[in-house]
Amino acid sequence: MKTKPLGRTGLMVSELCFGTMSFGGDADEAMAGQMYKAVRNAGVNFFDTANEYNKGRSEEILGRLIKGERDDLVIATKCFNPTGPDINARGANRRHVVQAVEASLRRLGTDRIDVLFLHRFDTRTPIDEMMRALEDVVRSGKVIYPAVSNWSAWQTQHAVDIQERNTWARLQVVQPMYNLVKRQAEVEILPMAEANGIGVIPYSPGAAGLLSGKYAKQGSGRLKTNKMYEARYGDAWMFEVAEEYTAFCQENGLHPVSTAVAWVGAHPAVTAPIIGARNTDQLKDSLASVDVAMTPELRTKIADLSRTPAPATDRSEELKVAR
Ligand SMILES: NC(=O)c1ccc[n+]([C@@H]2O[C@H](COP(=O)([O-])OP(=O)(O)OC[C@H]3O[C@@H](n4cnc5c(N)ncnc54)[C@H](OP(=O)(O)O)[C@@H]3O)[C@@H](O)[C@H]2O)c1
Repeated sequence: MKTKPLGRTGLMVSELCFGTMSFGGDADEAMAGQMYKAVRNAGVNFFDTANEYNKGRSEEILGRLIKGERDDLVIATKCFNPTGPDINARGANRRHVVQAVEASLRRLGTDRIDVLFLHRFDTRTPIDEMMRALEDVVRSGKVIYPAVSNWSAWQTQHAVDIQERNTWARLQVVQPMYNLVKRQAEVEILPMAEANGIGVIPYSPGAAGLLSGKYAKQGSGRLKTNKMYEARYGDAWMFEVAEEYTAFCQENGLHPVSTAVAWVGAHPAVTAPIIGARNTDQLKDSLASVDVAMTPELRTKIADLSRTPAPATDRSEELKVAR
């Protein structure tokens, strides 16, 4: 496993980040422990969780597993989504961010969070308040690096501009969704991150299991049991792409899960795809992504199996016309 710099921080992280969203949900504590051991043996030092994953159980289990080697690891968690029925038990305002961070620290059993993501853009809170909230938790020593997930490029750039104007700690990492059938990030987010030297750790590199090809064979998983995932991957064309993609992999002797992760990781803006699994059997395929020889030619061939998102501005077609 190679290591890479995380944004402009000087910190080195493994080329894969392990996402622990299944801990305490699809994976019980024993299986979580086996997966933890497998990723550590493979050289992963970078972990992603969130305060909302399985009502805090993901953070609690991860907290127990990291005991004894906490300082060797880079731990990222997130806040924003509701943590209870109270109207203020959510959001990215200063009050809730401080409360959420303190609760995450307790569950993780640590005294600092290495990377804190605002899980989504908070439409109720002005961006400068959100950035001040991140600055508060950084100054108090509870968080090292501020980050955002699921934010658009303009929102992120605006946030960085506010931070730079105030000489506040800068956003160092973004966490967009990115895979062969969800390529919106290519248009604005990835170029924005590259231009700013911001690290990128995309989630769902395997399209939450779709790119394994199992749904063409009546396989079971999140896309059939979870309404949110059914909606996210609800378009027929995505299933068609998945079928063509898995056929391509078979013809070329490639494993579809390993190759899907390697395809995401090979984008020049990407620091480390976040891999996920419900058991060690699934996990080994994502871990094997580091052995896939993803040349630029292979990456283009795979991209051509899917839909290229429209460019961010009109008139690009005119560039081909002589003036
Ligand atoms: N910031 C955010 O909003 C956000 C959102 C989502 C995830 N994340 C983070 O990103 C991490 C990874 O996301 P993800 O789990 O969606 O990543 P992913 O790698 O796209 O999907 C992993 C899922 O695909 C299926 N799968 C994996 N290997 C397989 C195999 N060999 N054969 C068949 N199915 C296989 C399993 O789901 P099934 O068993 O259900 O099929 C597995 O849980 C999460 O743990 C979390 O940390 C963040």
